[in-house]
Amino acid sequence: MDHETVEKLRLAIEAEFGRNAPPDGFPNLPRIPAARYMDEDFFELERARVFDRSWLYVGTRWDFPETGSFKVFDNMGRAQVLLVRGKDHQIRAFYNTCCHRGATVIRDECGTAKGGRFSCQFHAWTYDLEGRLVGIPDKRDFSNDPSLEDTGLHPIRCEEWCGFIFVNLSDDAPDLKTWLGPVAEDFAWVDGLRPSHRRERLLACNWRVCIEAFIEVYHIATVHPETVGQGLNHFGTVSNFYPHGHSRMIVPNPDWHDPDKVFPENNGHDPAFGFRGEASVSYNLFPNVLVPAGQTGFTLMEFWPVDATHTRLVTSCVEPDTIPDEDRKARQDFFDTIMDEDTWNMEHIQHSYQAPHFEGPKIGVHEKRIYYVEESIDRMIGQENLSPEMQVELLLDKYIVDTPQAV
Ligand code: FES
Ligand SMILES: [Fe+2]
Repeated sequence: MDHETVEKLRLAIEAEFGRNAPPDGFPNLPRIPAARYMDEDFFELERARVFDRSWLYVGTRWDFPETGSFKVFDNMGRAQVLLVRGKDHQIRAFYNTCCHRGATVIRDECGTAKGGRFSCQFHAWTYDLEGRLVGIPDKRDFSNDPSLEDTGLHPIRCEEWCGFIFVNLSDDAPDLKTWLGPVAEDFAWVDGLRPSHRRERLLACNWRVCIEAFIEVYHIATVHPETVGQGLNHFGTVSNFYPHGHSRMIVPNPDWHDPDKVFPENNGHDPAFGFRGEASVSYNLFPNVLVPAGQTGFTLMEFWPVDATHTRLVTSCVEPDTIPDEDRKARQDFFDTIMDEDTWNMEHIQHSYQAPHFEGPKIGVHEKRIYYVEESIDRMIGQENLSPEMQVELLLDKYIVDTPQAV
């Protein structure tokens, strides 16, 4: 984010403060059908056509400190994924499914492959770190099958961006950097940061009931009066839509209009660092990751669908190692309090959506990122695969920008 972009963002924030109605021409967004948040068939389409074709965050380079370091990932609603660092230092991903009789190869959650080999816990077929099948006990019983000469664990696309590891189950998806688009450029300052303070919550609500509560700050005065409500001024919120469903939200601090406030110029840092002292900058990495950032770090929120009405919410705090321990602890406690405030509401929302008269959520201008998530899901599913009553009208195309400099 360069100086010019920061200036444009400041003007855009001012314009938001000065607005008394939706921006000229902005569409009146129709209600999102409530059934999309509970219908089993819709959920299966999301899984097959959105999650199975998107780049999904699965860990960081810190999970793989040495050759042979591995991690099993089990949040995708599909067979487990085995990630491992090879001799060439590259991290690769495979289904954790043996090519003999399909057993789970590795049962540990993480560790280091002994001797650079994985041995299936059922009959000890053996794989190297590149997933090649390199050993079959009693091979004489299989020597009539030439296909076993050139096989192994089934590979999955796996790429690293700034130390964050993503996988994609589809061969047709663009590469990770293209997928992330403007986010990759705007958010690259996080390279080298390490997540900690991991927490996992299982919530009885649809994954979008959950994530959509975090991509607007309209609720901060009611849900977070003593926490976030004190730290942000939602009237100045600026949101941008990026290709592939990603989005950015910028929310100024409450002292934005303080006449004594002097915007910190670079102070030896880049303009984006200074700007993150004036406003919260948050991204939705479509489909299921949110990263609200502060000046030196961010919180990492993963929303994993379990079924149509259950979500595994995984959160971490990502900070530089140089943060003093007491500051780190204070931030983690603050974050935990905010999460308790937000999650307290969600299962009740899911339950309430079942009221027969309720057509679905109404989305205002401030909450437009929610509608963009829904549109992006329909684009990936393909509206020809949805009945008319399950679709959302595609209205936000013309607001999508493809650089972080466009505000
Ligand atoms: S299923 Fe893996 S070795 Fe038999
Ligand atoms: Fe909240």
